[in-house]
Amino acid sequence: MKVSAQVPATIANLGCGFDCLGLALPIFNTVTVEETVLPGSGIEINIIDEDGENDTSNIPRDKSNIVYKAIELLYNYIGQSPNELKISIKTQIPVARGLGSSASVIVGGLYAANELLGRPADEAVLLSIATEIEGHPDNIAPAILGGVVLSDWEGDGSVVANKLPWPNDWVVTICIPDYELSTEISRSVLPKEVSMKDAIYNLRHSAMFVQAVYEKDEELMKLSLKDKLHQPYRMKLVPGLSQIMNDLKHTDGVLGCVLAGAGPSVAIIQNGTKNDIIKETVQNAWNNINVNAQIYTLPVLNEGAKIIL
Ligand code: HSE
Repeated sequence: MKVSAQVPATIANLGCGFDCLGLALPIFNTVTVEETVLPGSGIEINIIDEDGENDTSNIPRDKSNIVYKAIELLYNYIGQSPNELKISIKTQIPVARGLGSSASVIVGGLYAANELLGRPADEAVLLSIATEIEGHPDNIAPAILGGVVLSDWEGDGSVVANKLPWPNDWVVTICIPDYELSTEISRSVLPKEVSMKDAIYNLRHSAMFVQAVYEKDEELMKLSLKDKLHQPYRMKLVPGLSQIMNDLKHTDGVLGCVLAGAGPSVAIIQNGTKNDIIKETVQNAWNNINVNAQIYTLPVLNEGAKIIL
């Protein structure tokens, strides 16, 4: 028997909510898990990209693969170890662009394996296992729940995730440059400690973010999407980002421009009225420094991971 799970892309941080805010977008990875008889190590991992080509990158295909590790934790949770597993991953979400590709495959593997095992784990357990593998909950939570999610990872490993009532007409223009930036590198430039002033700045703005969503208040949203904890340090890794942010500051319809997760993609939260101007502004800024990009305006996806036939 084999089971497939489809999981959306996600954008973490959303400016002010470093490691705790995230949203889901309608771009998907699909993970299929099959218990089967296999020669050798008892594990086979295949990755196929959007064009149906076999992925030849150096993503591990052995038991150190994050999807396998997540599935192993699920088996351990029910007091078992996985036997022979074939894991197939179909990717639509570009890797290392700040779109939650690792969270999506971790969640996909867990959802598919949980279904295969007769659903022993509930959502809380899946959130906790997936976050343990990923290291932070801000991509995992919207990948599982869909929508815009505020998440917290407690010291005991439990994850508290709350979906916010995102207005339907607030959409995201996602700008994906043609180069990769690993989360590891992007986290390595962050300071180990920040000033009380900067911590309070983000605290204020993330509280404002929640209120802006509940009140559907565009002016408050514009104020809230600011950050002093990660974006200033990451600017140097994403050429053109500060230019794009400046250029879009006073563009009609733009509620905010943020780094998508750890980057290098840039996300513009907007009210859907000026799609072309926004696209053109980003394209111009990046063209000037020879960065090619794919740019899409997408709604926030309200549905998270699901089992598909
Ligand atoms: N919150 C994480 C970061 C998301 O910004 O490093 C990337 O996975």
